[in-house]
Amino acid sequence: MLTTEQIKNQISNVLEKTDFKIGKRYQGKVRDNYFEEDKLVIVVTDRISCFDSVIGTIPFKGQALNQMAAFWFDRTKDIVQNHVKDIPDPNVMVVKKCEPIPIEVVVRGYMTGSLWRDYEKGGRDMYGFEFNERIMKNQLFETPMLTPTTKATEGHDLPISKEEIIKQGVVSKELWDEIENTALRLFERGTEVCRDQNLILVDTKYEFGLIDGKLVLMDEIHTPDSSRFWYQDTYNESFNKVEDPKQLDKEYIRQWLIKKRNYIGDGPIPKLSDEVIIEAARRYIEIYEQITGKDFEITDDPINKRVEDNLKKNGYI
Ligand SMILES: Nc1ncnc2c1ncn2[C@@H]1O[C@H](COP(=O)(O)OP(=O)(O)OP(=O)(O)O)[C@@H](O)[C@H]1O
Ligand SMILES: [Mg+2]
Repeated sequence: MLTTEQIKNQISNVLEKTDFKIGKRYQGKVRDNYFEEDKLVIVVTDRISCFDSVIGTIPFKGQALNQMAAFWFDRTKDIVQNHVKDIPDPNVMVVKKCEPIPIEVVVRGYMTGSLWRDYEKGGRDMYGFEFNERIMKNQLFETPMLTPTTKATEGHDLPISKEEIIKQGVVSKELWDEIENTALRLFERGTEVCRDQNLILVDTKYEFGLIDGKLVLMDEIHTPDSSRFWYQDTYNESFNKVEDPKQLDKEYIRQWLIKKRNYIGDGPIPKLSDEVIIEAARRYIEIYEQITGKDFEITDDPINKRVEDNLKKNGYI
């Protein structure tokens, strides 16, 4: 684990934004994506988003996320083929370009997050399921549930049921069955690997695409930007006390914004303090180490130059 001093030294050595001369650039909230012919160069920056806005940068976050996704792609490649081609830099993943399937395949092991908020408001008939009256917040489902949403290009993603997906012709029934099956197996694998590390994979989102008609897992997998993690050893106690379990993702920053800056997504974005940045970085590194069981390895050269040099060296620029 890095020391506070090591993290502090890198507070301004962050990858905030890139603008390389590669193909067609598309900037997401966290990643800078470069689409070119049959490939896509994904640069995972250090930007962090909360309440759907970018609120700052966290040193090492991009690397931690990229390397975590790389770990999971490798640990699941026997279940489904994935898009990874090359990792020329700790912050970069070069992937095979897929024809995206416009559904966010959300899998949930527990009643929490947005599903809980909808249930609490009285939602019972959701995603094509009938939820009963006796479900508690943060309760484990008997079997993980698939709660897909549409991938909205603007505004919020909307829930959609399996029936609607097939009826609207988004994908065929056969393909949806394969997606469902694959997502559940990925979630099971994620759950098993996490369990060995005292973690619960609470819920997550997968994105799939097609290459030559074959299903491919794309985007990212089991990272704190696409998943929620709880600590296993304190879950029961928290659940019984009707408290939220100790959470290992960006909930920390979200809580700081709410409690210390009174910010819930509206108005001017508050500036993160050095302290909160350092603690957030420490947590991202901790999640990486906890999940992979590996030490997080850093280089302290200027990150922007390092990324550019690695892209040049490997022929991407
Ligand atoms: N292998 C791939 N082939 C084609 N498209 C891909 C592949 N992997 C990821 N994508 C898509 O590339 C886009 C990357 O965007 P990115 O996730 O960075 O931003 P976003 O989804 O617009 O916003 P957010 O930051 O909220 O995720 C997404 O639409 C994703 O589905
Ligand atoms: Mg995305």
